[in-house]
Amino acid sequence: MRIDVVSIFPEYLAPLELSLIGKARQDGLLELNVHDLRTFTTDKHRTVDDTPYGGGAGMVMKPEPWAQALESIAAARVAVTESGGSGSSQDGPAKQPVLVVPSPAGERFNQALAYELAEEEQLVFACGRYEGIDERVIEWSAEHFTVRPVSLGDYVLNGGEVAVLAMVEAIGRLLPGVVGNPESLVEESHSDGLLEYPVYTKPSSWRDRDVPAVLLSGNHGKIAQWRRHEQFRRTAERRPDLLAKFDAGGLTRADRTALGELGYDVVDGHLRHRPNDDVSD
Ligand code: ADE
Repeated sequence: MRIDVVSIFPEYLAPLELSLIGKARQDGLLELNVHDLRTFTTDKHRTVDDTPYGGGAGMVMKPEPWAQALESIAAARVAVTESGGSGSSQDGPAKQPVLVVPSPAGERFNQALAYELAEEEQLVFACGRYEGIDERVIEWSAEHFTVRPVSLGDYVLNGGEVAVLAMVEAIGRLLPGVVGNPESLVEESHSDGLLEYPVYTKPSSWRDRDVPAVLLSGNHGKIAQWRRHEQFRRTAERRPDLLAKFDAGGLTRADRTALGELGYDVVDGHLRHRPNDDVSD
């Protein structure tokens, strides 16, 4: 996968040289280029923002530097494709890159979207600052990219850079070969629509707190059942919104019993919380 990030603070993206993502880059599993938006300005002051039409607080990012930056990224891709490089596939021309625009006004980022984006050949991230990027850039970009405004959550950051750090890590770790043991991707929070069960390591007793006995029993069936029950309990307690969306079609009898004890019934293939039922044990 190739990732391009455009920002007025390229140094903000330095952590992507570390840890798993840094190693993936070194190993050639991920090519990541960070571009300074100001190199695409033409005036002496390297201006990237201006006052908003219609008035109001703050500044808006000017369209021209963005157009120059995105055009140069799109042109680099065309050049690679035409020379038969990594931009083209054996089945025909390369797919249009996805332009991710981090914004509190975008669709919500989640694990499903991370998996979807991990399938792409090229992702381009446009980090807005101030009040955002002139909307015409977003419209015009559709000529070169599949445009997706994406929000990390219902809160406001100062710019897209922190959101890009989070998204690139979430997507990058899903690329083949990046995480050493791919099984760890299967048993983590959100992989099955539920939160992960609690985990413990040695010593088995610590400051008068014991690891749950079932985990020391060696009974793998019982351990799996306990973990599943803990996933339901945690999700019910912390994220009932996830249980409301959960596809109850594949639940076992033991699952239904565990959920029943937590106050949930299966109605029309979905979990419904019984009114006035306390979730906690
Ligand atoms: N930029 C500012 N706030 C953001 C958010 N919540 N998600 C993504 N990008 C942002």
